[in-house]
Amino acid sequence: MKEKLDNIKNQVNQKVKELKDMQSLNELKVKILGKKGELTEILRGMKDLSPEERPIIGNLVNKVRNEIEEVIKNAEDLIKEKELERKLEEEKIDITLPSSKIIRGSKHPINRTIEQIQDLFVSMGYDVVDGPELETDEFCFERLNLPKGHPARDMQDSFYITQEVLLRTQTSAVQARVMLANKEKSPIRMICTGKTYRREDDATHSHQFNQVEGLVIDKKERNVSLADLKGTLQVFVKEMLGNNLDLRFRPSYFPFTEPSYEVDVTCFKCCGKGCNLCKQTGWIEILGAGIVHPNVLKMNGYDPDQYGGFAFGTGIDRLAMFKYGITDMRYLYTNDIRFLKQFDRKD
Ligand code: DAH
Repeated sequence: MKEKLDNIKNQVNQKVKELKDMQSLNELKVKILGKKGELTEILRGMKDLSPEERPIIGNLVNKVRNEIEEVIKNAEDLIKEKELERKLEEEKIDITLPSSKIIRGSKHPINRTIEQIQDLFVSMGYDVVDGPELETDEFCFERLNLPKGHPARDMQDSFYITQEVLLRTQTSAVQARVMLANKEKSPIRMICTGKTYRREDDATHSHQFNQVEGLVIDKKERNVSLADLKGTLQVFVKEMLGNNLDLRFRPSYFPFTEPSYEVDVTCFKCCGKGCNLCKQTGWIEILGAGIVHPNVLKMNGYDPDQYGGFAFGTGIDRLAMFKYGITDMRYLYTNDIRFLKQFDRKD
């Protein structure tokens, strides 16, 4: 029996050297240690031994079994190590190979312009607020002093979803929302940028465009005046379009401001001499603005005897076109990658 055990041990020691992979190792394990394995066979034969021999051989079998298990365990570790090495070798990445180019997107000129506007006004102490694009007639018109049937509603052809709900035609709608939310808290200094919609589809207008709205409200004694409005817009225009540009306030009409103005800026192409961009006038109209109408204050929770302020609004798309010298508005919407790539650089 001892001989048999030695044989098995030698056989294992021999076989282990020839093992190549886990499969052959498992086969060896089964052959020796498995249910029908050679060592198990010997253990079964123990019942035929004399009581004196049994513990001696039992000890021996256990010893051999431990030895074999250790040999197999070592072999297993070695195989695993080799397999890992082989895997690492096979999956090695050659980091010296040139990589494929990653195509990066670039910020859209409208988004660049919006960010620039927001940064500027934040630096002047304004809040940037948001409002819904799907707006109610109440906020888009009524609370801005434009009751139903008011002729000035014709200035903005609207997309109505129901009788009361429409796609906002102007970010001015946010004025009323902010005033109501603030409940006579002052000062209010806010801008809102965002998409607006009108039923226009001629060559120079899109049905969807972007606007920025500004609103400042403060206590009457703090005298927020036309001079403040002009100073603010001057900073705005300088930041967006360049220094040395003059502003011109032309009396106009908006239902939510009184007095109301259209604001022109010196034509930055010809510096005021007259060219095709400014239609030989030397001026380009860029903004609507004015002193907040008492009715608007009243309707939105601010006593016009105690509070006052100014508001302004403008189209961002046109501003972006002026800023970047874009000649056709459709470039802003057709997403031609060749056009957009030109903005893939720092301003
Ligand atoms: N909401 C106006 C428009 O879309 C622009 C505007 C004019 C906004 C005067 C104002 C303002 O806040 O005071 O044409």
